[in-house]
Amino acid sequence: MRITVLGCGYVGLVTGTCLAEIGHSVVCTDNDESKIDILNQGALPIYEPHLQELVARNVAAGRLSFTADLAEAIRVGDVIFICIGTPPLQNGEADISGIDGAARLIAREARSSKLVVEKSTVPVQSGRKLTRALDIYGRNSRWSFSVASNPEFLREGSAVLDFLHPDRIVVGVSDRSSELLLREIYRPIQQQELRNCPVHEGDCPRKNPPELLVTSINSAELIKHACNSFLALKISYANLIADICESMGADVEEVTRGMGLDPRIGPAFLNAGLGFGGFCLPKDIQAFIRLGEKVGVDVSLLKDAELINKRRIDSFLAKATQALWTLKDKHIGVLGLAFKPSTDDIRFAPAMELITRLLDEHAHVSVYDPQAMEKTRTLFPSIHYCADPYELADGAEALMIATEWPEFKSLDWARLSRLMQRPLVFDGRNLLDRNEMERLGFEYYGVGVLSTAEAEARCAAVPLSPGSR
Ligand code: UDX
Repeated sequence: MRITVLGCGYVGLVTGTCLAEIGHSVVCTDNDESKIDILNQGALPIYEPHLQELVARNVAAGRLSFTADLAEAIRVGDVIFICIGTPPLQNGEADISGIDGAARLIAREARSSKLVVEKSTVPVQSGRKLTRALDIYGRNSRWSFSVASNPEFLREGSAVLDFLHPDRIVVGVSDRSSELLLREIYRPIQQQELRNCPVHEGDCPRKNPPELLVTSINSAELIKHACNSFLALKISYANLIADICESMGADVEEVTRGMGLDPRIGPAFLNAGLGFGGFCLPKDIQAFIRLGEKVGVDVSLLKDAELINKRRIDSFLAKATQALWTLKDKHIGVLGLAFKPSTDDIRFAPAMELITRLLDEHAHVSVYDPQAMEKTRTLFPSIHYCADPYELADGAEALMIATEWPEFKSLDWARLSRLMQRPLVFDGRNLLDRNEMERLGFEYYGVGVLSTAEAEARCAAVPLSPGSR
């Protein structure tokens, strides 16, 4: 199939490359020429496991190409995937002006009929508005434009895996021929005909083929927002439980494990910590709130989830201030900057808010991250960037873990404690083992579990009721 991908951001690059990998002829285009230049030099504008080799392999095979010639790219594809960003506007609504611009471009440049597929995360009913825009901009065109919705559920850090081995494929259509085209496009994934999957080195685990769910366009658009908002809700629920655990002397890890063993709940997305970040969950729950308000639906449930998320940094810093007395002039090392491991993405990363707040408190901030330091420099040019966690610990009065990079677990924590002025760790991702850290002599504060020091302080403060001895 001849496919055009509009937009070479996260979603566009992974989508275009993986569609080429399953055998389609794909041209990717973007109005940011510098991005196309980087790609045509064989580099990537983002860090994503397995993507580099996949791009190289498919470019070499002639199935994948990048061009800044938007018009030419439009003409090549029979199917056009719109993968243009829909960032939040001031009021939290999704900015769909890029989608409108794409409609204008397609209607103007098409030299054959097209299936236009929304892959960007868009508010419900965008498909209907896109259809109308194509009709209006293409009123003098002799070609026809069908519209479909095909939301993506890619997670950064595992996007190639999520595309080639999805849990499901959702296609929203309003006609049979669009459905058949999309079925044809995804047939290799549905039939797991992956020649040389980079994630499993060609030896993919056999599992049930992903369902290809055919719905209306409106429903497909809503599925995406509903999923991301539910994931955000689940994380905030875990954080709510964490606060109760801290007050009642329970352990959130034990509680969420007990919850997750119930298949109706499931263990995923119950990790309490500094809250959800990234370019998707924060903006999608906000856009969904705005959408609900617009149609008069009570969305207080989502608002509360957003509020709980916003307060994670407050309670984390309150704990640090309690232990350090004041943050002013304290040397604090932040371990982890990316919004989650396996990515260099810092958009809406909790670590960014944490650094901002520490600087507001006049703390001396040093940072380390395996991938995200370059991008962080653009936001915080004046803080200290360390070559490794040991340099970060050197002379630090506290370390704060903001991203649960697995490699932080296997650090030589005994050596780190010797390097620090005070072996004090605030683990915002419950990455480390409290007992092990305390055995190494650390004052250790996790989330949703009391440190031994906290537990003892609480016990001392709450006298047992008379006669309870
Ligand atoms: C998300 C959705 O998972 C994906 O399906 C969608 O397509 C895009 O948005 P992504 O933004 O890459 O993917 O990150 P995700 O893995 O969902 O994590 C989002 C945030 O939630 C991260 O900051 C992560 O640290 C946090 N998180 C996740 C928790 O705090 N607790 C959890 O249990 C899981």
